[in-house]
Amino acid sequence: MSGRLPLRPGGEIEVAQRERFAAVGRVAATIAHELGTPLNSVLGYTQLLLQEEPDAHRREKLAIIESQVRRMIDTIQGVLDRTRGRQTPHAEVEVGAVIDDAVATLSPLAATAGVTLRTSIPVPLPPYRGDAIAVRQILINLVKNSIEAAGSGGSVEVAARADAEAGIGPALALEVSDTGPGVAQEERALIFEPLYTTKQAENGTGLGLAIALGLAREHGGRIVVGDGASGGAVFCVSLPLER
Ligand SMILES: Nc1ncnc2c1ncn2[C@@H]1O[C@H](COP(=O)(O)OP(=O)(O)OP(=O)(O)O)[C@@H](O)[C@H]1O
Ligand SMILES: [Mg+2]
Repeated sequence: MSGRLPLRPGGEIEVAQRERFAAVGRVAATIAHELGTPLNSVLGYTQLLLQEEPDAHRREKLAIIESQVRRMIDTIQGVLDRTRGRQTPHAEVEVGAVIDDAVATLSPLAATAGVTLRTSIPVPLPPYRGDAIAVRQILINLVKNSIEAAGSGGSVEVAARADAEAGIGPALALEVSDTGPGVAQEERALIFEPLYTTKQAENGTGLGLAIALGLAREHGGRIVVGDGASGGAVFCVSLPLER
């Protein structure tokens, strides 16, 4: 697979780029902070509705709202922890469940876009320790991009495997491939830059890949983009198993 990263792991980061990351981090922290209160309010009201003994149909929907709001609160907590330089908790990650969860979260978007979502998860996967919320966030950003790139009639596959040859020692490899137009060689150095986007303002801010790469690096890992077998793009996340 070919691919090039704009920032070499452990290498020098240009000052302008570092400042842009810092500015994006400040905006993210502000948004995370401001969203905390209303989200906790939504959670509280959802729990009140659940206590009113709704019928099974409503209970099921309210439970989904509750779990998704909890996720948003956890994600926001992760952003605020990182802003404070706090280490997010690492634990054994059920990788298959995290992939299924990310795919389930994006399946309404895929359905609306007319895109088929598939997973290929071998059992058993190697045990992986990390921050499950971060792994989920990486996948959500990559799969969302692939759905947007694939477009109507296209497909997206998420695969996981153990990779002994990742160049970073034994690693967990997560691959997101799609049937979209792919990423041109000259664009590969740009797409991980914060705020780089080719989408309309209402569809993209250019933060997804910068966030995903930052989270992968926090885990000692990396993300490489290449040409997929079906002509589109393939994004391979390598996360080291032993650190
Ligand atoms: N799977 C893909 N296929 C083709 N191009 C892609 C793919 N993923 C990302 N890109 C390109 O990389 C750019 C940056 O992606 P990134 O996720 O960082 O931002 P975005 O998707 O534009 O906006 P955001 O993620 O903030 O909503 C995209 O605008 C697109 O041009
Ligand atoms: Mg994106």
